[in-house]
Amino acid sequence: MEGLYIGLILFLFSLVVAFGFIAVKEKRRSLKLLSELRKERKKKKEKREDRLKLLSRALSLIREGIVIMDPYGRIIFTNRFARQLLDIDENATGKFFYQAIKNFDIVSLINEAFNEKYRVWQEKKIKDNYVQIIFGSDMDEKVLLFIDLTPMKKYENLKKDFIANVSHELKTPLAAMKLSLETLEEECKENTRAMGFINRALERVSYMEQLIEDLITLSQLESVKVKVRFEEVELLPLVREILKGLSDFILKKGIKIELKLPEGAKVYADRKMLYAVLKNLIDNAIKYNREGGKVIIGFREHRSESEISVCDTGYGIPKSHIPFIFERFYRVERSRSRKSGGTGLGLSIVKLAVNRMGGSVEVESKENEGTCFRVYLPKRKL
Ligand SMILES: Nc1ncnc2c1ncn2[C@@H]1O[C@H](COP(=O)(O)OP(=O)(O)OP(=O)(O)O)[C@@H](O)[C@H]1O
Ligand SMILES: [Mg+2]
Repeated sequence: MEGLYIGLILFLFSLVVAFGFIAVKEKRRSLKLLSELRKERKKKKEKREDRLKLLSRALSLIREGIVIMDPYGRIIFTNRFARQLLDIDENATGKFFYQAIKNFDIVSLINEAFNEKYRVWQEKKIKDNYVQIIFGSDMDEKVLLFIDLTPMKKYENLKKDFIANVSHELKTPLAAMKLSLETLEEECKENTRAMGFINRALERVSYMEQLIEDLITLSQLESVKVKVRFEEVELLPLVREILKGLSDFILKKGIKIELKLPEGAKVYADRKMLYAVLKNLIDNAIKYNREGGKVIIGFREHRSESEISVCDTGYGIPKSHIPFIFERFYRVERSRSRKSGGTGLGLSIVKLAVNRMGGSVEVESKENEGTCFRVYLPKRKL
């Protein structure tokens, strides 16, 4: 009996020893596994941090600014261009955008758009850079993107200056050519063959003169140096002055002019620009009209804008051409337009001048019935 007890005790003891041994071994194994897991996680974290560093270094090389904020407006990331543009400290991460960004205009833009999904602002000048600003918050984070337009702007200005300079340079030799041709015209009055050539040359010189004038007007309208001088402009005398200048043309085509302008009607505009706008529209309304057709010049006041309309009973403009007529050198029917001697710059001048005065221009046309151009100018208190 005693032997049985001793055997049982020995059996239990060996069982405890065996379990103890297994438990120690298991613990060691799980500790090893845990440390391997930790190492793996650390490695992954380092890799992720390396990738983030690489990405942020790459984003610092580009000339587009990026500011990323959390849903509450705290800065998560800024790249170098954005920091330079907006004077953001390098350790601004975690601060609210209104604390980190020193530029007040940009802070108010973010404020304005903060609850929107997407907003684009066209061309803003910040320090010496021209940028387009895009705000997006499709995800939880809010992103502000600054696209640098400075090089494009510089190139554009170079091109504009070049065109303006060439146009000015061409004016003098062209005037000399015209003078010589006019002298020759006097000398060759008896020679009909020579007169034919001289008249053709004079026609071409006049076309070039008009082209140069239009190019100079366009470059002046594009130039920020040429300021818009707003004043109250009385419409009736201005339109009469334009009609006087076009009187030969009106008589030749037998056009009837209908003035629906109330006495004393005034608009708030730059006089010279408005003159160019109406002169081009009235000129077109006569030029693209039938013999004996009608041109109606009207005026209407709306709540916040004044409307001037120039309508005709001419050929009209086919629907498919309407989106392009304000483009430079665009002419609907080249053969007819060429015969009428235009340059195709008139409506580009109209659009640019109206835009510079803060207004807009609309066109409505029916083929073989006529066309109406409507200019809308904002009313402003002087
Ligand atoms: N009132 C109109 N009726 C019919 N077609 C028109 C009218 N106004 C403009 N167009 C069309 O649009 C084109 C562009 O007009 P735009 O005034 O820019 O150039 P243009 O009259 O040909 O030349 P420019 O005005 O420089 O002498 C014209 O060639 C013509 O085909
Ligand atoms: Mg024209």
